[in-house]
Amino acid sequence: MNRASPDHDPNDQTSWWRHGVVYQVYPRSFADANGDGTGDVEGIRSRLPYLQQLGVDAIWVCPWYPSPLNDGGYDVADYRDIHPRFGTLADAEMLIADAHRLGIRVIIDLVPNHTSSEHPWFEAALAADPGSRERARYIFRSGKGLDGDLPPNNWTSVFGGSAWKRVADGEWYLHLFDHTQPDLNWENEEVRAEFDDIFRFWLARGVDGFRIDVSHGMVKDPAFPDVEITEELLESSQATDHPHWDRDGVHEINRRWRRVLDESGSDVMMVAEAWVNATNLPLYLRPDEYHQSFSFDFLVTPWGRDAAIAAIDRAIGAARAVGSTPTWTLSNHDVMRHTTRYGLLADTNWRTWPLTGPASALDPDLGLRRGRAASLLMMALPGSAYLYQGEELGLPEVWDLPPEVLDDPVWEDSHHEQKGRDGCRVPLPWSTDGPSFGFGDAEPWLPQPDSFGDLSVDAQTGVPGSTLEMYRTALAARALHMVGDESFEWLDLGDEVLAFRRGSGAICILNYGGATIDLPEGRVIVSSTDVGHGLPGDACAWVLPA
Ligand code: NOJ
Repeated sequence: MNRASPDHDPNDQTSWWRHGVVYQVYPRSFADANGDGTGDVEGIRSRLPYLQQLGVDAIWVCPWYPSPLNDGGYDVADYRDIHPRFGTLADAEMLIADAHRLGIRVIIDLVPNHTSSEHPWFEAALAADPGSRERARYIFRSGKGLDGDLPPNNWTSVFGGSAWKRVADGEWYLHLFDHTQPDLNWENEEVRAEFDDIFRFWLARGVDGFRIDVSHGMVKDPAFPDVEITEELLESSQATDHPHWDRDGVHEINRRWRRVLDESGSDVMMVAEAWVNATNLPLYLRPDEYHQSFSFDFLVTPWGRDAAIAAIDRAIGAARAVGSTPTWTLSNHDVMRHTTRYGLLADTNWRTWPLTGPASALDPDLGLRRGRAASLLMMALPGSAYLYQGEELGLPEVWDLPPEVLDDPVWEDSHHEQKGRDGCRVPLPWSTDGPSFGFGDAEPWLPQPDSFGDLSVDAQTGVPGSTLEMYRTALAARALHMVGDESFEWLDLGDEVLAFRRGSGAICILNYGGATIDLPEGRVIVSSTDVGHGLPGDACAWVLPA
């Protein structure tokens, strides 16, 4: 793949990412080549032909760096190497080269908000004195109260409990996530320069893009005020006017990184994991900031026609306002799989994070049916689509993981109130039988349910109507009919029907109602269910009009 082009225009309207399909790989759970029960880089490389056949343009690989894996690798101990359990730097280079040979780009995950507590910088900070240069790379403060034994403010960690931990000499450090993930001090030029260099390190190894973790969190209110607990804050993790989320200062950092990327003279991109409201989203997408930012607003929208139309309009409007394209996703390693989410019968607030919860009232068949329909809807929309590994198999969230295998820090940090995100991270099934359904030769790091055999890649390959074949057909059809022209027009096909036409003339129709509806005259390119007698409720079809 020829990336480098000295006269590349970084805002080129034809850049691949504007409509690219990106497949998210969670390395621990994708494929285990060395038989130790944990997925690895070689496992990813061995399955590239599968991804090519699926029809994706790129992979996004979740953190693969040396790490104690307290938060699945989002606790990085060394940003310039590969975790020995996942392989070596040479393996990563081979993966990038092979992916490029197959026409697949590689996006890696960068975690700038915090390091691991086992990062040499944090170890040095603990060994150094208050006020030292080593401590200034993180956010250390004195506590409140007579002996300073109360945290500096009332900020809470996303995973539960106070966001501050006290160290031996009495100072406290900030951790917006687990206490093994100390927040870096982005007011410190040494931190900024270090990350410029980390970007360059991976650019030199040929990566095509970066997914930036917690990209709305690096800048904190310098006064470190207590948070006012408002209704909005309790109801939404996208609350505005927050002392450590989505502050103006992050845009300066975004622009700095963008300059580093643009200097490389190639079409590398970065995508923001910014849990911000739709009003502020365009700010991240300005031509000198991020190329993409996930439209989480779409992800958290509950099942329903009007809500979906509104979320789609907001995302398209936000992107277009600044000359960008929307970035859709329905599932990732932090949220309940959408095939399960849409089967929940109880009202759930999806705007709080992490998006997991009890499966008290669940209809799995309904979830899969709606999930498949939603996937087809997403793949027909203008812009880029991110798929999460296993969604092409229709994998459900695994609910019944026993407490002793739970690995997500959310379980401990929430004092066992929330099971956490392991249910969407269970290793993939590749074959119908075998000790781990083809994931590897050993017991997988999280147990797979028996139902995974029938959902495996082998079980679904070549089977008409299987979720895997639906995705393959859809991605091939998308390349022909849904990209190349970003135009998009809503159609009115009734109160319970969401329908739109793309520039090629292809129409996408999702029936939210109970009754089967007639499809327009023409050829059905792909559908989420049998449409021999029309389009039933909770189903989606793409039609090329006659
Ligand atoms: C977002 C990541 O997607 C999630 O998995 C992680 O726990 C937090 N950021 C903290 O890095």
